[in-house]
Amino acid sequence: MSIQLPKQILVATRNKGKLAELLRIFQEEIPGIELLTLDDYPDSAEVDETGDTFEANSLLKAEAAYALSGLASLADDSGLVVDALGGAPGVHSARYSGKGDAGNIERVLRELRELEAVSEVARTARFVTVATYIDGDGTIVMRGELEGVILPAPRGEGGFGYDPIFQPLGSHLSLAEMEAEEKDAISHRGRALRLLAPEVGLRFRHS
Ligand code: IMP
Repeated sequence: MSIQLPKQILVATRNKGKLAELLRIFQEEIPGIELLTLDDYPDSAEVDETGDTFEANSLLKAEAAYALSGLASLADDSGLVVDALGGAPGVHSARYSGKGDAGNIERVLRELRELEAVSEVARTARFVTVATYIDGDGTIVMRGELEGVILPAPRGEGGFGYDPIFQPLGSHLSLAEMEAEEKDAISHRGRALRLLAPEVGLRFRHS
């Protein structure tokens, strides 16, 4: 008689906004899998994000979670890439100002204003998520992007991070003005996870 293993994935983030989205989207895409979080591993150390790409940092986080738990693990490295700022804040999005989300938003808006004072500046930008999944069979990596523009001032109360200053192309709302499901349907994170989920589902079916 074969023993059915519990279907568990450790979701490797401590960012509350990101975690809520990851859990919501993944549960919808592959229901029936138990999602654990780093709260289930309170003594785990912060991972040093020493990579200079989203791919490298996503892999570092997924590998650390897998080494810690021995469970299938899922990590997300993400950020905002602003063209006029040469791709900043990019992989440094979480700590761009050292003063939390409001400080980060302020710094991006200030830097764009400083550029605009000397010349016309395109406000194009994109959000990027690289999602990495690791289990005993190997690693799966998927990237999702969302194109948009940086608004002149924050708008809306929803979401997290830079959502209040980001308006997706084709929308008249900032990400922070959208319902959660509306953001999930178009977001960089939604895109990456919807590419990843079927592959993960296959792994579990064959295990
Ligand atoms: P990470 O934990 O190094 O991946 O940092 C991601 C950072 O990028 C977050 O702390 C936010 O500042 C920003 N970020 C990532 N995804 C989003 C999003 O969906 N909306 C707004 N900001 C985001």
